[in-house]
Amino acid sequence: MRHLLRQLLKRAPAPHMLTSLEAYDRWAATYPPHAHNPLMQAEESAMIALMPAIHSRQIILDLAGGSGRYSRIAESHGAHAISLDNSAAMLAVNPCERRVLASLEALPFAESCADAVICGLAVGHVRALTHVFAEFSRVMKHGAWALISDFHPFIALNGAKRTFSADGRTYAVEHYPRLYSDFHAIAYAHDLTITAVLEPRLAQAGDQPVVLVLRLEKHGR
Ligand SMILES: C[S@@+](CC[C@H](N)C(=O)[O-])C[C@H]1O[C@@H](n2cnc3c(N)ncnc32)[C@H](O)[C@@H]1O
Repeated sequence: MRHLLRQLLKRAPAPHMLTSLEAYDRWAATYPPHAHNPLMQAEESAMIALMPAIHSRQIILDLAGGSGRYSRIAESHGAHAISLDNSAAMLAVNPCERRVLASLEALPFAESCADAVICGLAVGHVRALTHVFAEFSRVMKHGAWALISDFHPFIALNGAKRTFSADGRTYAVEHYPRLYSDFHAIAYAHDLTITAVLEPRLAQAGDQPVVLVLRLEKHGR
């Protein structure tokens, strides 16, 4: 039986690897506006568990907002959400009123303008995070919070890829796994302090942690 499994795995073609931009441009038309698999459901529950109270008229930047999942949550509390993404196709399916086409590495926002930053399941697509964290910190007010989630590094280090299906094919998306210590160091270097962490596990994944969810605060040092 093991032998058969090995044979099958050997023959399964490796999915074609796409850059994040190529991937989401292809995926956007069918990308659901809600948590659409158990990993995302676990991620969303953890993000909401760590989310500080949102007050009306707060400015909340939903960075790499995709189809607007977290903008909608912020808006449901009366906040002014702004959804930013570098995929025009994803922004086209995002119903948020305020949408911006730009990259996480160069945010088109003024210094200290945001009460909060949310970035769900996107930082793993970025090869070098220094500019991204520098930009998060730059746009956050003193005392502002951020919520950041990423695929758990154990998943990638066990050989799994981030995949999706479109046009009858399965594709893999570029992803750079990071340990908690990587996030800790890069946050610290940009005046951000990690104040809470969750690593929800999934029974379907052998009870392994599937996402890393961080809450951070901006402090001057
Ligand atoms: C898995 S989706 C998550 C979308 C949304 N944050 C959510 O949690 O539902 C990842 C999103 O990150 C965006 N993205 C990836 N790299 C980006 C970058 N460098 N700048 C801006 N957006 C980026 C993609 O276009 C995609 O919409």
